[in-house]
Amino acid sequence: MNAPDVRSFTVGPVQENSFIVRPDPTSRSALMIDPGDEPQRLLDAVEALGVEIEAILITHCHFDHIGAVAPVARATGAPVYCPEIERPLLTDVMSWVPPGFGPFESYDPEYTLAGGERLSLAGLDIEVLFTPGHSPGHLTYAIPGALLSGDVLFQGSVGRVDLPGGDWATLERSIGTLLARFPGETVVYPGHMGVTTLGRERDTNPFLAELRVRVPAATPASGPGVPPR
Ligand SMILES: [Fe+2]
Repeated sequence: MNAPDVRSFTVGPVQENSFIVRPDPTSRSALMIDPGDEPQRLLDAVEALGVEIEAILITHCHFDHIGAVAPVARATGAPVYCPEIERPLLTDVMSWVPPGFGPFESYDPEYTLAGGERLSLAGLDIEVLFTPGHSPGHLTYAIPGALLSGDVLFQGSVGRVDLPGGDWATLERSIGTLLARFPGETVVYPGHMGVTTLGRERDTNPFLAELRVRVPAATPASGPGVPPR
């Protein structure tokens, strides 16, 4: 199976990565992940690609990841899938936005997710994983060969744990679960900064030094399209 077509758009003052994802570059159906800001730019991209957004998935409800949810949902008619625990942040956005950012519009999501679900949307099989630590309800979306992992793991770094509900031991455990579960060549599309792979972070990320000792190396025989262990 070919790798899904993933387009990245870095938006807003916090330089958050929003994604448009579809099974292949000819597919007319797509997902949008974490529309964080600059809704018109994202909607222009949807039009330029000639796709219909079938669903909007949110990894976590920090304002930089949800600032454009309401206008994008309204314009596309796509239902919104939100981490269950963090729903109150989306339904009352401005109560949680630090001074100097926004204004952003609240949204009442059509669906909530707790992790453990499997979704079939826009022609993609999506596994929903509960990956708290950066935020209490954080979700990672696994698609064939790749992870849309929000603020769990970055190129050479990890999500901050000093915000409300953040906890390093919990985040480290979440990252360990991903490392143990998916092969090293799994592409990681994070919520900030560049694209990386699980294997590269496992081997070089300074924040994962202890995990490197504890988590066994991923199976090298696995490849894109091979079901994760
Ligand atoms: Fe965040």
